[in-house]
Amino acid sequence: MNSPEASVELIKLNVNGAPASAQVEERTSLADMLRDGLDLTGTHLGCEQGVCGACTIEVDGVPSRSCTLLATRCRGAQVRTIEGYDGDAVMDALRDAFSEHHALQCGFCTPGMLVSSRDIIMRGLPLDEQQVRMALSGNLCRCTGYMGIVQAVMSVLARRDELLSPEQRDSAEPVPEHQYSGPLPTFERSCGKVEMQAAPVNDAGGDRILELIKLKHSRDDVWALMRNVEQVVSCVPGASLLAENGDQLEIQMEASFGAISASFKGEGRFTFDDASHSGRFEGQGKDSRSGSGASGAMDFSLEADGDGCILHLEASYAITGALSQFSRGGLVKSFASAVTRMFADNLSARLRGETPNTSAAAKLSVFKLIVMVVKGWFRR
Ligand code: FES
Ligand code: FES
Repeated sequence: MNSPEASVELIKLNVNGAPASAQVEERTSLADMLRDGLDLTGTHLGCEQGVCGACTIEVDGVPSRSCTLLATRCRGAQVRTIEGYDGDAVMDALRDAFSEHHALQCGFCTPGMLVSSRDIIMRGLPLDEQQVRMALSGNLCRCTGYMGIVQAVMSVLARRDELLSPEQRDSAEPVPEHQYSGPLPTFERSCGKVEMQAAPVNDAGGDRILELIKLKHSRDDVWALMRNVEQVVSCVPGASLLAENGDQLEIQMEASFGAISASFKGEGRFTFDDASHSGRFEGQGKDSRSGSGASGAMDFSLEADGDGCILHLEASYAITGALSQFSRGGLVKSFASAVTRMFADNLSARLRGETPNTSAAAKLSVFKLIVMVVKGWFRR
């Protein structure tokens, strides 16, 4: 909502090779300035949290999320949007390759996907298919799957020398990685059968998420289920129990992060305290394909609440390696909300004596989870 006191200022920059200016508020994003102030609607907005990559454009030659960049921080910058590649041989080749390899359907992700793909070509690294998937992992597509997109990029990569001038071939430099380092937000929501509160906190040991889930089942019934490790693991989306030996577990977690699929395999431990109706799961695992590691712990306790009970969950986790970019605040929030909701739904199904819908939950998909969260906002 616009506040009457919001100050408006004139921002001048260079867009697609020509001077441009627009009146913006202090909090206006570069994406909004481009779309609303300059009518450059080829820059798409999906998540507006820096996660999906739909808004990716070049700022001073570097692919950037325009949804999380303040327009006021871009005074004097050289900005290039998807409308600004006329006559660019690499972009022309990518457009043709995307058509040829059926790398788009609705086209929503395509402008950001093309900007990121061009950057991959310009860097000139000899990438194999898995590395191209990794390089594209910051751009999510809800339609096509990634096979066509990756094949399109690979086909243009193979023609790099033919498409670039000698100066362009020599001037390519690796782009520095930007990492999220700000504090995570606190949020509240209510969805369907369960009420939840969550307060993610960033600390040195990784990210921590607090959840309260109200369940319409007695504390004793829920505790009996929580004591059954196999059943609890089956309620966690994407998780499967490979082996249980005393208080030790062997677990596998499947997840898809845009073009990357990861399968974390690892070991865990658990403890239960029947007197206080509380316990702890902890574990760590590795995805051998991306070389990423994940470690985490979940403390839980049950509080009686009338005829039902409240499940307190405190989860902490850290991701290292190539997939650590997915521990950014926006994604943590979306991921935590959706995973907890799916977990609570599965738990409720178990308590009703039904089998959880493990087919839908068999694999965690970041994009599907974000869509679920956004739909949840509209239902409120
Ligand atoms: S809209 Fe900017 S990353 Fe999704
Ligand atoms: S083509 Fe539809 S989102 Fe990618």
